[in-house]
Amino acid sequence: MGAVRIDCLLPLPASDLSDDAISALYDRADRSVPWLRVNFVSSADGAAAVDGVSGGLGTDADHRIFDLLRELCDVVIVGAGTVRSEGYGAMVLPPASAARRVARGLPAHPVFAIVSNSLTLDPASPIFTEAPVRPIVVTTEAAPHDRRTALAAVADVLIAGQQQLDPSILVAALAERGLTQQHCEGGPSLFGSLLAAGAVDELCLTVSPQLVAGDAKRIAAGALASPRDLALSQVLVSGDTLLLRYELRR
Ligand SMILES: NC(=O)c1ccc[n+]([C@@H]2O[C@H](COP(=O)([O-])OP(=O)(O)OC[C@H]3O[C@@H](n4cnc5c(N)ncnc54)[C@H](OP(=O)(O)O)[C@@H]3O)[C@@H](O)[C@H]2O)c1
Repeated sequence: MGAVRIDCLLPLPASDLSDDAISALYDRADRSVPWLRVNFVSSADGAAAVDGVSGGLGTDADHRIFDLLRELCDVVIVGAGTVRSEGYGAMVLPPASAARRVARGLPAHPVFAIVSNSLTLDPASPIFTEAPVRPIVVTTEAAPHDRRTALAAVADVLIAGQQQLDPSILVAALAERGLTQQHCEGGPSLFGSLLAAGAVDELCLTVSPQLVAGDAKRIAAGALASPRDLALSQVLVSGDTLLLRYELRR
């Protein structure tokens, strides 16, 4: 994983960071305090996807950070739209990542939590059949009952709202299960609703050295009552790729 060189500009300049050094930068000192981190990659002109997937934006450095962030969390939260469009499989970390998690005292793999209203998720998908840890499907009371029953056979179904999903309930319910270090990999609709609910603590944003133009989605969709201010806490650089870290100002 350490093949691509990553340097630190902020908080303190440091060159050619090891995986351990990068993990130490992102690790939270007190895991008992719930924390929701969101990770995205965007082109320099703000596109969150190229031809409907984010893969065209990700550089080697982005992939390295993406993998390292999974190592630190208790749960990876992803919207069903991203799960479908990006073709997510089971949340299985590579053996070296799993070993580093175990050395930290964590389970080998994080829990995979998928957020869906419609429950258009196939219970026979490898997401469920090859999962090393029973996934969580987060939905509402209004979700189709037959799909809910089918998914309950392969995942824990967490109800977080009646007609509409309440992100605050989602975050609190995961924390109640001991999943305090929460890591969201998108997508834009889910990020937008988490933002609107004031549930997000941190944004990790890779700025990919590309201009995409067109009408690609941005990293956050939906409406906010007012813009949210960010505090820049970390800047890593790898070649032409910027790896930014912001905390949401309260
Ligand atoms: N650049 C990046 O880093 C990045 C990261 C992730 C995704 N993406 C891109 O984003 C695009 C997908 O965008 P998207 O907005 O559709 O993704 P999304 O937020 O992952 O998915 C939207 C779907 O997720 C479920 N969902 C999300 N928020 C919900 C909420 N608050 N309540 C209930 N259900 C909720 C719903 O699923 P149901 O339809 O099942 O009800 C909804 O239709 C893709 O092109 C993907 O490549 C880019």
